[in-house]
Amino acid sequence: MDYIVSASLLACDFTKLGSEIKRAENAGADWLHYDVMDGMFVQNISFGEPVLKSILPAVNIPVDVHLMVADPMLYIDNYADMGVMGITIHEESSCGVQEAIDKIRSRGLKAGISIKPSTPFEKLLPFIDKIDMVLVMTVEPGFGGQSFMHEVLDKIIQLREYIDKNNLSVRIQVDGGINDKTAELVKKAGADVFVSGSYIFGADDIEKAVASLKN
Ligand code: DX5
Ligand code: ZN
Repeated sequence: MDYIVSASLLACDFTKLGSEIKRAENAGADWLHYDVMDGMFVQNISFGEPVLKSILPAVNIPVDVHLMVADPMLYIDNYADMGVMGITIHEESSCGVQEAIDKIRSRGLKAGISIKPSTPFEKLLPFIDKIDMVLVMTVEPGFGGQSFMHEVLDKIIQLREYIDKNNLSVRIQVDGGINDKTAELVKKAGADVFVSGSYIFGADDIEKAVASLKN
């Protein structure tokens, strides 16, 4: 399986965004994970369109936007216009999931659906053959630096079984508390995209940290 490491910008040093992006790229990160929080879907507020617009010229790897917002439909076109690679919305957000997926795909982007730790994987099934990636939250969305929730592993195993049995080409991303130890567990369970913030940006040796998630 080809594994992808997606560096979550939320954990970088915001006083030097440009050089932090370079650091992640040079360390071998495959994608940049951009967490948008609106203070409604989750309590926290992170960053949004103006910040991404400003940093995009300095980014040389695909950008994957994770929308933790109450109404994703309000934002999809704007991120698509900027030229991001993919957009992931939450199954639990208040928009029509199918409508949002159709919109993302009509803009030629990779479409993802994320589920919180307590949302069963069956909720994805009506949409799973129409998306490119599932984003399984391995912490409650809203904050970086939380501990990995081991109880989510079963859901990843079920998803991998379903995807393989039905011959779907859907990636399974995991997000939250991913480090060298938990990456081992989610890999065994069937995940193939590892979103990681604190572990990557907080590492003494960032290159080693990125490599340790893949190997
Ligand atoms: C949390 C975000 C994550 C977060 C992960 O709601 O979706 O992408 O940045 O951070 P770490 O890797 O620190 O758990
Ligand atoms: Zn995220």
